[in-house]
Amino acid sequence: MASSPFADPAFYADRYPAYAALRTASPVLQVSLDGATTATVVTGYDEARQAFTAPLSKDTGAYFADKPSGRSLHPAVARTMLAADPPEHTRLRRLVTKALTPARIDGLRPYIRSLAEQLVGMWESGSEVDLVEELAGPLPVTVICQLLGVPKTDRDSIRSWSTDLFATGDHARIDGASHALAGYMAELIEAKRTHPDHSLLSDLITVHDQDEDRLSEDELLSLAVLLLVAGHETTTAAIGTSVLALLQHPAELAHLRTSPHCVAGAVDELLRYDSPVSIATWRWAPEEVELAGTTVPGGSPVFICPGAANRDPAKFPDPDRLDLGRANAASHLAFGHGIHRCLGAPLASAEVEIVLSVLLAHSPGLRLAVPADQLVWRQSRLVRGLVTLPVHV
Ligand code: HEM
Repeated sequence: MASSPFADPAFYADRYPAYAALRTASPVLQVSLDGATTATVVTGYDEARQAFTAPLSKDTGAYFADKPSGRSLHPAVARTMLAADPPEHTRLRRLVTKALTPARIDGLRPYIRSLAEQLVGMWESGSEVDLVEELAGPLPVTVICQLLGVPKTDRDSIRSWSTDLFATGDHARIDGASHALAGYMAELIEAKRTHPDHSLLSDLITVHDQDEDRLSEDELLSLAVLLLVAGHETTTAAIGTSVLALLQHPAELAHLRTSPHCVAGAVDELLRYDSPVSIATWRWAPEEVELAGTTVPGGSPVFICPGAANRDPAKFPDPDRLDLGRANAASHLAFGHGIHRCLGAPLASAEVEIVLSVLLAHSPGLRLAVPADQLVWRQSRLVRGLVTLPVHV
């Protein structure tokens, strides 16, 4: 049996050769994770779509119930709708969708633009900045805080807890941050109950369906935490890798500079080319299941890799080339597929689009400040993102 490439630090700098090798071996392949656990890795496009709708469970609580980890993650972080199966998931998703409407996302666009202009406006012409620290990091967390109604004075704490939650491997830091964040959110929910406003959080408190079904206190808390976490690191990664991809493809960048109206259409290809959620969240097969001709044993995990599926040559010809004119770019799986497909996709796309528009207008001479092979990538299986992105502006 092949061993997984995930333990190799070099994998994180450039995942695509390893994904291609896995896909060539088989688009649905059984690999050994750590010698003890066998996982099924899905790297083909058609196979990934099939796996996203297969009878796999997202209930991590059930999977890990008999595997004590010694962890003390706050339940609001551990048990979100992303780790729930129907009918629980169906109910939660129905209620959230009622509050997180397209009109609410559209209404945020002017705020996102002014925030991007403010952040980029602080850069001195000719200087070197870290685009992750100065733009890609602060913008998404501030937008989510604005959406949820987190007061401005508390946003730095939120950013720091949220960053800690993604401190891969540092369990004490992650668990500590989960309690700090959940504790803060519980207080904020209480405050919004007493003083409702026009925020998403206030709407989530009152949202109900025709049967008067409402979100419980625990559900509200885990949802607030999930929106914050899911909407922050992923979008930070998307902004960083999108800018990098354009800097590495000068003809595509020049095209966007002369045709700024094409930026919105470019976002799908940028997300396909370097997908921020490179390996989807934890899934497992409660019973033996067949995936594209491969038998997945009951009780074993399945890793669906949007980052690999989006580079499958059978779906996207010449997949390692960024091609902003690619006809089927919007078929990418960067936001997943099926019942757990990203709830924040319209918001994330709007953020990437607006940031790129603002950046192109503000920094005509933007270029990398270090050779690309010196860039540092996050060692996270889930998120493909840059730790820093030094650029000359
Ligand atoms: C470019 C940025 C983003 C990317 C690439 C992304 C990607 C994804 C993916 C792949 C999934 C499905 C995971 C799986 O099935 O294992 C997902 C789920 C989710 N995302 Fe996003 N996301 C982004 C931004 C956001 C934002 C801004 C928000 C919040 C407003 C958000 C909220 C969620 C939620 C709540 C779920 C869970 C949906 C469910 O379980 O039904 N995401 N996202």
